[in-house]
Amino acid sequence: MADNYLERRYEEVFGPSARKGPAKRSAGLETLMKRNRSYREYDTSYVVNRFQLEAMVRVNRYLASGRNAQTLRFRLLTKENGSDKLQGLYHLGRALPELHLPRKGAEPEAFIVICATVAPDRNLWIDLGISCEGMLLKATEMGLQGVIICNFNPAEVKAALDLPLDPLCIIAVGRGLEKIEIVDAAGNLDYYRRDGIHYVPKLSLEDIII
Ligand SMILES: Cc1cc2nc3c(=O)[nH]c(=O)nc-3n(C[C@H](O)[C@H](O)[C@H](O)COP(=O)(O)O)c2cc1C
Repeated sequence: MADNYLERRYEEVFGPSARKGPAKRSAGLETLMKRNRSYREYDTSYVVNRFQLEAMVRVNRYLASGRNAQTLRFRLLTKENGSDKLQGLYHLGRALPELHLPRKGAEPEAFIVICATVAPDRNLWIDLGISCEGMLLKATEMGLQGVIICNFNPAEVKAALDLPLDPLCIIAVGRGLEKIEIVDAAGNLDYYRRDGIHYVPKLSLEDIII
């Protein structure tokens, strides 16, 4: 094997600042799910590469799909590969309009744009949700953060990226900057920021079992 092949490949996938050395025990599923929050501000000095996005998309090979139809298709955009074409075409943080997100200088710069080969039906929407969560959990496992974005104009994004299919949703990926905490919901479910912390209210188990 070529000199340092594994080390170089590791850096390609996980980025230059990723921890090397003895393998760390990977976090349990619930820990990953709690860590997997929606980030809307990113460290632009960290550049997500194509291998990282491919590692995320690869998990689709292990996911459930209605009738096993596997109709989702993915366009990968990195900083080196046209992600700037998406800037200005999507909106973040509808519940925090005063912050004008994405904040200049903290925009996500890597994206996975998800399309489908068929017209949306119930199975497709479920496939899409499974795919988004699966890919974001993989990102979390790799030490990255992200957010699902549906607040964009599909026709504009399709034209800007010259996509052969209609985009359904976008996942932004990067090194998130916010400190995010889950809190028990008390009435209002809007996420909010206080003293530098982004709070996400979640309903209790009793609330959601009917
Ligand atoms: C279907 C869907 C669409 C979303 N679209 C957007 C969006 O366009 N912009 C945004 O900032 N966040 C978007 N989000 C992120 C949600 O706002 C986020 O999941 C919610 O506030 C809860 O935060 P959490 O993901 O950290 O639990 C979307 C999430 C989902 C599941």
